[in-house]
Amino acid sequence: MNGRMSFFRVIVEAAAICLLAASVVYAEDGVTAKVPDGNGYAGSKVCAGCHKYEAVSFQTNPHMQAGKLFTEFEGCETCHGPGALHAETQNPADIRDPGKMEPAAVNAICLGCHDRGKQALWMGSTHETRSLACTTCHSIHHGYKHLLVKEDEKDVCFQCHQDVRAQLWRQSHHPIREGKLTCTSCHNPHGTIAPHLIDALTVNDKCFQCHPEKRGPYLFEHKPVVENCLNCHTPHGSNHNKLLARKSLYLCQSCHSGEFHPGTMYAMGASSNVPGNPFVSLGVQGVYRDCLNCHANIHGSNSPSGQYFLR
Ligand code: HEC
Ligand code: HEC
Ligand code: HEC
Ligand code: HEC
Ligand code: HEC
Ligand code: HEC
Ligand code: HEC
Ligand code: HEC
Ligand code: HEC
Ligand code: HEC
Repeated sequence: MNGRMSFFRVIVEAAAICLLAASVVYAEDGVTAKVPDGNGYAGSKVCAGCHKYEAVSFQTNPHMQAGKLFTEFEGCETCHGPGALHAETQNPADIRDPGKMEPAAVNAICLGCHDRGKQALWMGSTHETRSLACTTCHSIHHGYKHLLVKEDEKDVCFQCHQDVRAQLWRQSHHPIREGKLTCTSCHNPHGTIAPHLIDALTVNDKCFQCHPEKRGPYLFEHKPVVENCLNCHTPHGSNHNKLLARKSLYLCQSCHSGEFHPGTMYAMGASSNVPGNPFVSLGVQGVYRDCLNCHANIHGSNSPSGQYFLR
């Protein structure tokens, strides 16, 4: 029993080593390599003889249009690997089909060329570590703009991020549904330096790209604004005005004590008439009014007397 187990193991391991060796050959020698098992390159013309759809549609593919890289003879096998054997046998098992490969193996093919620019930080990114493949979002032969699998970019993302789609139906939302911005206006799905795939150094830098007036500089800064816009806002959608994370009164009071000025909503209520209640305060500012009625310049003020953001 034990002997048999290890016999299988040797076979499996040998197979794995062969596979590894083969992929090393692809990687090292690129298009012109000959693999040890005698499977050479057939050339795109040969592929085209049987795969008419792929061959014709490839003429308008950005990969073809990139010119020299994809000459008539090397094109198909750049990604599919040497196909002479398959051209003879017509057996699907004799050719690499990235559509059926493990994510890491597909990505290795693509990263052979796309390892810089927007894709430079793919390795280690959230999507890479969650085993997404380039082909989860891109289709080489059936793709739309940027070879995406869906015509509308956000539909690519909504395949998985349905919670975000739901947020866009809240009363205040970034106009993504309306087509004024897209997911990649703020995110780079391939990987970023900042957390949450934010395509900027910090959240605030991202927001400033479209809301530059919030950058200041202000004579009187409101500290949480400088720190992070998301102290008060949500990025996708909110049921409160202006993408606020909470209703403004509660928002302010999540940081500012409501004990004296401006008081809580209830400061004028029954409890403040109770003798000995320490929370007796005028509270006029708080009751029935929004803090923003008076503190209108909440992001910061340049008025000489704007230290309370009243003007
Ligand atoms: C003589 C005809 C013929 C030639 C030449 C040929 N193929 Fe195929 N190929 C086939 C057939 C038949 C299938 C199986 C189709 C099916 O199962 O629907 C196939 C399947 C495939 C598949 C899909 C494999 C899978 O897992 O389903 C790929 C990828 C492929 N070929 C690429 C190529 C490439 C690249 C070339 C050129 C090097 C090539 N073929 C040359 C006939 C050919
Ligand atoms: C840039 C890499 C790349 C090149 C170049 C390429 N393919 Fe593909 N091919 C893929 C990927 C990835 C898939 C998996 C399905 C997809 O993403 O569209 C695929 C799938 C296929 C299939 C399986 C059927 C299908 O559409 O899913 C065939 C057949 C095929 N390719 C043939 C060809 C032929 C013929 C050429 C040359 C004209 C070629 N490929 C060039 C990457 C490539
Ligand atoms: C041999 C090098 C090479 C390989 C391998 C390769 N590409 Fe490309 N790819 C290019 C070149 C060159 C272009 C055209 C120039 C550009 O847009 O960067 C391109 C363009 C693209 C584009 C841009 C389309 C557009 O219109 O903006 C996408 C998306 C893409 N490739 C995805 C892939 C995926 C996914 C794979 C793996 C299945 C892959 N590529 C494999 C070289 C390659
Ligand atoms: C989660 C979805 C997703 C995954 C996974 C993904 N991409 Fe993309 N990719 C996009 C979207 C959306 C765009 C178009 C918007 C843009 O340019 O940022 C794009 C654009 C591109 C472009 C063209 C724009 C440019 O200049 O870079 C290339 C090339 C590309 N991707 C390659 C890849 C490669 C290679 C992989 C795998 C390592 C990959 N993508 C994985 C969603 C994805
Ligand atoms: C195949 C499913 C899938 C698709 C398609 C997809 N994602 Fe993701 N995405 C994930 C998974 C899994 C995570 C990990 C977080 C989680 O568990 O929700 C994630 C995380 C994220 C995060 C948070 C990153 C972090 O580090 O917190 C952002 C932002 C994101 N995706 C944006 C996008 C965008 C933009 C698109 C479309 C271009 C997209 N995703 C398409 C599966 C997907
Ligand atoms: C206006 C900029 C902006 C746009 C546009 C945007 N996002 Fe985000 N997204 C953010 C920010 C900022 C965060 C970080 C939130 C945090 O830190 O709590 C984030 C976080 C995320 C996350 C991870 C946390 C979560 O809420 O689940 C996902 C997933 C995500 N975005 C997907 C998307 C998708 C999908 C789209 C397109 C429909 C999109 N985003 C459009 C700014 C944006
Ligand atoms: C790519 C451009 C872009 C980026 C980046 C961006 N926004 Fe916006 N933002 C918009 C647009 C467009 C509107 C809608 C303006 C309008 O309708 O007049 C908007 C509206 C808003 C609103 C008002 C919403 C309402 O209901 O009226 C808030 C608040 C907001 N953005 C905050 C942010 C924050 C916080 C960030 C950073 C996480 C950010 N924005 C990043 C483009 C952007
Ligand atoms: C201390 C909480 C707080 C922080 C932090 C904050 N905001 Fe706001 N923001 C608000 C409030 C409250 C409103 C609603 C103002 C109103 O209705 O008059 C608002 C409204 C907005 C609006 C829409 C109305 C307008 O003034 O244009 C934008 C855009 C906006 N904020 C962007 C930002 C950006 C960008 C940042 C980060 C630099 C940021 N906010 C940080 C509280 C905050
Ligand atoms: C995330 C926490 C946070 C939120 C939410 C917040 N603030 Fe602030 N606020 C601060 C901090 C921290 C300071 C600086 C306090 C200091 O310098 O002593 C400040 C300062 C102020 C000041 C000036 C006080 C002074 O003594 O100079 C006013 C007025 C103010 N905030 C009003 C508001 C209003 C109104 C809201 C609701 C729209 C709000 N804040 C929301 C944290 C917050
Ligand atoms: C009716 C106008 C008005 C309303 C409403 C108002 N304030 Fe004020 N607030 C002021 C004025 C005026 C000052 C200047 C200092 C003073 O006179 O007490 C001030 C000062 C402040 C200060 C700094 C001084 C201190 O006492 O710490 C903070 C913090 C503050 N307000 C927060 C809030 C919050 C939070 C709300 C909503 C719950 C709010 N204010 C509602 C008018 C208002």
